Amino acid sequence: MTSPSKGRSGREYLAIPGPSVMPDAVLQTMHRAAPNIYAGEIVDIAASLVPDLKLVARAEGHLAMYIGNGHAAWEAALANVVAPGDTVLVPATGRFAHGWADMAKGLGVRTQILDFGKRAPWDMDQIADALHADASHKIKAILAVHVDTSTSVRNDVAALRALMDDVGHPALLMADCIASLGCDRFEMDAWGVDVMVAGCQKGLMVPPGMAFVFFNDKADAVRRAMPRVSRYWDWSPRANPEEFFMYWNGTAPTHHLYGLRTALDMIHAEGMEAIWARHEQLARAIWAACEAWGEGGPLELNVADRVNRSCAVTALRLESPHATALRDWTEQNLGLTLGIGLGMAPPGDPAWHGFFRLGHMGHVNGHMIMGLLGGIEAGLSALSVPHGSGALEAAAKVIAEG
Ligand SMILES: Cc1ncc(COP(=O)(O)O)c(C=O)c1O
Repeated sequence: MTSPSKGRSGREYLAIPGPSVMPDAVLQTMHRAAPNIYAGEIVDIAASLVPDLKLVARAEGHLAMYIGNGHAAWEAALANVVAPGDTVLVPATGRFAHGWADMAKGLGVRTQILDFGKRAPWDMDQIADALHADASHKIKAILAVHVDTSTSVRNDVAALRALMDDVGHPALLMADCIASLGCDRFEMDAWGVDVMVAGCQKGLMVPPGMAFVFFNDKADAVRRAMPRVSRYWDWSPRANPEEFFMYWNGTAPTHHLYGLRTALDMIHAEGMEAIWARHEQLARAIWAACEAWGEGGPLELNVADRVNRSCAVTALRLESPHATALRDWTEQNLGLTLGIGLGMAPPGDPAWHGFFRLGHMGHVNGHMIMGLLGGIEAGLSALSVPHGSGALEAAAKVIAEG
């Protein structure tokens, strides 16, 4: 073990867009001996998670839980509703839609990708054209990433449903809320989403390891008509378990269940509306600071229009190699880890060092965000990166206004 370098005593702060900061209460409840998995409180805890997760998703349908990460949720969702040779439409606003499309390709599914670049949301006219052109309804599902964590673009999922209804296209609307759930407003049923995938390591504040697939009756009917579904990914027994082991098709993620139980208690004590409002306010504080810095230097928010920005993650541009230098400086001197720029430039390309991201998802509050912004300001000064003044004042004003 090396001793902490200068300035790194004190609590470290991982401000990357997932995995996110874990509350002490979550860590503490996970610190326990192995529980019996055949009887006792773990069985009740598992059952109690289901309605509480549905409240977070604003969903009254079904929920299947998996041991896995976001990629597992992607594959699980696909495995239940699309078969080799089927087609999915994938509007992409960053790296993650391509990732989900790639999982579909791996299952033998045809992917029709509409790429809208890395700085703008879905172009509804182009999606409408693609749906109109599909007169024979070959497109079986639309894979819709709500918040792309690489670009911080937030897409309008409710508007996509309205568009599908206007066109009269019967495809399933499948949303990826891996970055947004518990951070940006999302209402599965009200927004007409048929399938939604999420993980536990961002807004749900639990270490990575649990994946969720929410689905409604329409999606379940598609599942029932599938020629075959792999036993492991099949959502039916998981959503309707006759015995405890069926929730996970095997051993339960025991300690995660305790962690998630505590996280959900915290979430529901605060309330979803309050959580969305908190994320929104903290995001506005970050944007205000970034705009002020940008007035006098190269720092720039990746997404120009705030209605298209996520409240969970902020992607920033800062002339190469300043972004990497800043990340290194805050980590080495402050114990503050900022997120790498993801998918904006190929690794190895000098441009790669011109992007970074801030995670502000889950267990975050005003003093953490002020500390994050103060750390960035110190780094910009230490590295002599030109930047405008008044950033911290601007952020503090947003927080003070409540
Ligand atoms: C929007 C989104 N989708 C999918 C994933 C993939 O999740 P995982 O890395 O847990 O497999 C991520 C991960 O950050 C994500 O942000």
